[in-house]
Amino acid sequence: MSTTSPLTPAGLRCAHLVNPLGVAPDRVRLSWWLEGGGRDRAQTGYQVVVTPDHGRADQGPAGWDSGRVASAATADVPYQGHPLARAGRYSWRVRVWDEAQQVSAWSEPARFEVELDPDTGWRASWIGLGPIKEEFRPPAGAGPADPLRHAMNPAPYLRRSFKVSHPVASARLYVTARGLYEARLNGERVGDAVLTPGWTDYGKRIAYQTYDVTGLLRPGENVLGALLADGWYAGFTGFDAKRAGAHYGAAPEFLAQLVIEFADATGTSTSQEIVTDGHWRARFAAIRHADLLMGERHDLTREPHGWDAPGFDAAGWHPVGCRDLDGTPLVADPGPPVRVTQEIAPVGVSGDVDGQYIADFGQNLTGWLRVTVHGPAGACVRIRHAEVLDSDGRLYTQNLRTARQTDEFTTSGGPEVLEPRFTVHGFRYAEISGYPGEPGPGDIVARVVHSDIPATGSFESSAPWLDQLFRNIDWGQRGNFISVPTDCPQRDERLGWLGDAQVFARTACYNRDVAAFFAKWLDDVADAQHESGAFPDIAPRLSIPWSGSPAWGDAGLIIPWTLHRMYGDTGVLRRHFAAMTAWMDLLERDNPDYLRTHNLGNGYNDWLAPGDDDTPRELLATAYWAHDAALMAEIAGATGRPEQAAGYRALRAKIGSAFADAFVAADGQIVSGTQTAYVLGLHMRLIPEELRAAAASHLVDAIRSADWHLSTGFVGVGYLLPVLSSTGHDAVAYRLLEQRSAPSWRYMIDQGATTIWERWDGWTADHGFQSASMNSFNHYALGSVGEWLYRFVLGIDQEPGSAGFQRLLVRPHPGGPLRSARGSYRSVHGLIASAWQREGGQFRFQIQIPPNVVASVRIPSADGSGVRDAAGRGPAGIAAFPGAAGVQEAVFEVGSGTHEFTGPPARAWAGEPPL
Ligand code: BGC
Repeated sequence: MSTTSPLTPAGLRCAHLVNPLGVAPDRVRLSWWLEGGGRDRAQTGYQVVVTPDHGRADQGPAGWDSGRVASAATADVPYQGHPLARAGRYSWRVRVWDEAQQVSAWSEPARFEVELDPDTGWRASWIGLGPIKEEFRPPAGAGPADPLRHAMNPAPYLRRSFKVSHPVASARLYVTARGLYEARLNGERVGDAVLTPGWTDYGKRIAYQTYDVTGLLRPGENVLGALLADGWYAGFTGFDAKRAGAHYGAAPEFLAQLVIEFADATGTSTSQEIVTDGHWRARFAAIRHADLLMGERHDLTREPHGWDAPGFDAAGWHPVGCRDLDGTPLVADPGPPVRVTQEIAPVGVSGDVDGQYIADFGQNLTGWLRVTVHGPAGACVRIRHAEVLDSDGRLYTQNLRTARQTDEFTTSGGPEVLEPRFTVHGFRYAEISGYPGEPGPGDIVARVVHSDIPATGSFESSAPWLDQLFRNIDWGQRGNFISVPTDCPQRDERLGWLGDAQVFARTACYNRDVAAFFAKWLDDVADAQHESGAFPDIAPRLSIPWSGSPAWGDAGLIIPWTLHRMYGDTGVLRRHFAAMTAWMDLLERDNPDYLRTHNLGNGYNDWLAPGDDDTPRELLATAYWAHDAALMAEIAGATGRPEQAAGYRALRAKIGSAFADAFVAADGQIVSGTQTAYVLGLHMRLIPEELRAAAASHLVDAIRSADWHLSTGFVGVGYLLPVLSSTGHDAVAYRLLEQRSAPSWRYMIDQGATTIWERWDGWTADHGFQSASMNSFNHYALGSVGEWLYRFVLGIDQEPGSAGFQRLLVRPHPGGPLRSARGSYRSVHGLIASAWQREGGQFRFQIQIPPNVVASVRIPSADGSGVRDAAGRGPAGIAAFPGAAGVQEAVFEVGSGTHEFTGPPARAWAGEPPL
């Protein structure tokens, strides 16, 4: 008889989202985690029951009872029941059997709703109000405005009045735009998402959102309304300073289908649909322009108050233009919505001589301001945004290039809230001019805007600057994950660069649950793939020709693999398998001698490496190709394709030999001798095993000769510290981390950085700001060091071959100046928490492991034997600490629960060579 209570399933998700209202049938994969005390807990079986909601006769025979499945799986469980009904509503529950065969209670029910039938489910038409251009005034000094390139549209207001004559049982609003929309129902905003429907290649796929609007309807007259803006569809997008008329379309359009279900006395449901069609009326009003890069201008004296509610006289509103659906796939948004996630009060507001105020929010962030004014009508309040101040204390905006990031408001009198809704700015500072009177406390706040992705990681240590680095990395992620992963949020770029995303992907996964976010974006990547198989450099594709640059194009394969490793997600591998093989076929076709010398696309190489980027292009390219082949072998294996896995292993071996022949000398030196060349060779295991230690020493020599500075750009940086730590050079890794002069992470922090800079020398005392043409202060790529904090400092990692943190490899690497570190990662299996302290001549390590997970805990030690667990037991085994000659590790194999280990001083174990 077990004395522990049964495990409890919790945290139910479908397609990585909590209770999604729109999900494609082939994305219905279920997951949960387990809660329960005690040690060595495990799931031995599960039963999932999916039931259609009652009262919907159209759902047919449906649902799924898996019966008891003998399995440890708690994630990535595909739905295997009757075909799911389009627009069907389902609830689902799970119960589990534990290691003692005790069965849990049923979980709390979770829900999902299936997307509309893409072919027959839509009865709405696209509607819009033709463009009336407003002249865009370019920033001072930018030359005359080119009317074609610079005109911006006012935002259309659209409305439709309709009657509801029966009691409403439920109602759903399916809604999207080519452009951006804010939907309104009876005077209320529908939902809390912003910048909807997000960015896709609108010619290939358009995402829509589904809202439960049951509670917003009322008997009698109702009004469905919408505000529309240009967004990525018709606004300034990217760096070519033209409106997206050139990319997608000239003016925004709206599409909505409101489905209302009534329950009559007999219980049979009837329904009513309100769709976008010729019955709608529209006009331009207060929002004179709204653009993602340029900002917004509102003339609040022109606001038609009450326009989105019943009882409004819409005389004078115009008929809308209508266009039939053209077959572009409409898909339920698979990603998390963009939301306002936080409000930040200024840490200081200074008035300057011209009557302008500069607010400092103490944090470089992405979002906008909400400013409250109390004053007469007709005041013109202008808000400019910048990441940094210049030496005179004014906003430094040159690095924004043509992005104006300026919001302007003409007030209508009385207390009023000034706030944009269809733009986003990257800033720490805002200059407010024309404010009537003096702002009081609470009158100025920054609202933080990004894809609302749950945080999963934490880190704190005895070094405040390292904690700041961790926060800067996460803020960089928050500011740049806005519907797609962008390079930067402030200048006229903000593009979904694949290289940046792949180097940062693993860090991103530790910080936040990005499974759904990346799932959405990988569809954008697939949409942008060239028919030759070339993955693009940016997705959604825009302006730049397909290119498939090494380390950029490879993201099309590396990111799905990373999602599989981190989340155990095989759905994403299956979905993109054909795209990945097409990419591999292309590389092999073009490079028959197994060196990747052809098709290097735009060839960004080790982008922004300090000094000269001397890493040979074909070396970097071939290393990535070999890496791709190794990952493809794993991907093919994980999706049940053993023959293809063997083929990719053989390909990997051929590329590996070609690489070694071409680039690695007999003494382990690598051609060019750059840090990045060594890092790639070592990380991708392209240096013959017997030369690994020698090559790692050459890497250390290269770092020493740079006076203990790194010289890596975007591509080398992510693997630099992991390679040093896994080849026995923790001390060097910590020394790079501690380095205070540029190039280094800590240098940025010493300059007051609150996000990660694009360039190691974004600002220096000698040269001031780096070239204004490319100098973002919020670019996450160099923040890919975050992965090292989790995997090496905290030791939260998994065994090779494990996916979704089922089998942990817990190997902390204490060292450098750190006296302690603690942190956690909430994996798909639940919370993994690690903490260590070096004190009183002892190293203490605690690890919390969730149920259904096993861990190999490795504590480095001089001879391994002195390490004890809390019960005083010694290790199950002693092994060599990887890469560190003469250093051992004590090995403990443990299951779930909290475990503590104590051993001799860390410094002696870390194998730190004299520097
Ligand atoms: C972007 C990068 C990107 C790069 C390609 C830059 O303009 O800001 O982050 O990866 O171009 O080399």
